[in-house]
Amino acid sequence: MKAVILAGGTGTRLKPLTGYLNKHMLPVGRYPMIHYAVAKLQEAGISDILLITGRMAAGMFIQYLGSGEELGVSLTYRIQEEAGGIAQALDLAEPFVGNGEKFVLLLGDNLFEHSLRGYAEQYERQEAGAMVLLKQVEDPHRYGVPTFGEGKNGRIITRITEKPEHPDTDFSVTGIYFYDSTVFSLIGDLAPSQRGELEITDLNNAYATRGLLSYATLQGWWADAGTFESLHEAAHQMLAKPSGGSGTEQGEGMG
Ligand code: DAU
Repeated sequence: MKAVILAGGTGTRLKPLTGYLNKHMLPVGRYPMIHYAVAKLQEAGISDILLITGRMAAGMFIQYLGSGEELGVSLTYRIQEEAGGIAQALDLAEPFVGNGEKFVLLLGDNLFEHSLRGYAEQYERQEAGAMVLLKQVEDPHRYGVPTFGEGKNGRIITRITEKPEHPDTDFSVTGIYFYDSTVFSLIGDLAPSQRGELEITDLNNAYATRGLLSYATLQGWWADAGTFESLHEAAHQMLAKPSGGSGTEQGEGMG
């Protein structure tokens, strides 16, 4: 399985730090944030990785990660010229992913403890559609929040609501997504949201309305390090467990 890491965007919630440094290059414990996404993929045996970032920060990523050799992976880079949304950035991955391939998409500001290996194996066995990883949280209104229903092969997600004021459940959709190459034609059908971006939640809802969005629950510690509080907590966790923990348990089954 291949992987795509997104490390672009504007990092608005972390200004003024992100006024001069890309969010994913901010220090988290001993390493810049981006280090953990690459290390987690390597640990799961996923070594063919595309990193997408903006023009201004690209040189810094190349300087730190290079070919990926030191971390035991092979890196390819692509530039997202404008922060046009997560789904727009993902669209740039089409030539890298190739026809008929399954892959994992990681948002570079998602830091977590558990291994991705079990989830990747679970998705490899899935016949069609996409799979997302969920996490129970105290503040679901900060994230995409799933609504559940019954599918042919068990519980599925019927809809995701982005940052709802009154969330249905206390689950968040993490920034760890599994797709097959049909994702690119679904991106082609998306329209920009009110804020002018191609939204990952609209993309996932394109699967959900077709009954093709499965999920697993992410075990272990997880954070979206996009705010000062979560960045601080992430640094604390990563200093205690530099690799984010080994996480060898198997992920939960579908639903
Ligand atoms: O972390 C999980 C959450 O991530 C999900 O629950 C939400 O459904 C999803 O929309 C996303 O929400 P955020 O508000 O955290 O997204 P943010 O704009 O912070 O971007 C997330 C990552 O994607 C970050 O690592 C930067 C990257 N990105 C973002 C945009 C908008 C890009 O590479 N390019 C972009 O154009």
